[in-house]
Amino acid sequence: MRGVAAPARVILLGFMAAGKTTVGRRLAERLDWDFVDFDSEIERRSGRSIPAMFRDSGEETFREWESRLTREYAGARHVVLAPGGGWITGPNALEMLDPETLGVWLRISPREALRRLDGDPESAARPLLAGENPLRDAQRILEERAPLYERAADLRLQVEGRRVDDIVAAIVDRVRGAREAETAPDGED
Ligand code: S3P
Repeated sequence: MRGVAAPARVILLGFMAAGKTTVGRRLAERLDWDFVDFDSEIERRSGRSIPAMFRDSGEETFREWESRLTREYAGARHVVLAPGGGWITGPNALEMLDPETLGVWLRISPREALRRLDGDPESAARPLLAGENPLRDAQRILEERAPLYERAADLRLQVEGRRVDDIVAAIVDRVRGAREAETAPDGED
């Protein structure tokens, strides 16, 4: 969050298919932190798939699950959090997190997101893009969310055309850089 000095956790934000799960898992390995993928955790705990939850109980129920996990991990230390792209729209989502959280926005265009989802068996987990005109829907959703991602982001990374390892390295540098600056003896930072 704004001005975070020594991050105790990272939250990965960004549109569907931006790579939050892939980057998050590798980032957690590099930092030797825990990793929590919200979508998988919600599916595991609820015993339902995301499309089934949206279909049978509605998006609101899914957002309640997201809030519950947020409260649970809001103050957890040394953890990388990867909620779904719509997490940011939850009431007070950002405010729930402890301020020692580094927000990272993985930026992707709607066109590239759809290209990645095309033919991906996991794409069924994105019911919000299952309508007649996914590109139009993706553009609208991203436009609504961009200011929210922007407000939450301490670090913004364009992911298109960039290797996962490069993205991870940029985040590791930011986490370690900030922590080292924080712990450096006076006069050496
Ligand atoms: C959603 C994104 C999905 C999943 C659900 C809703 C969204 O996760 O949580 O379909 O509202 O953007 P990914 O961002 O991992 O695709």
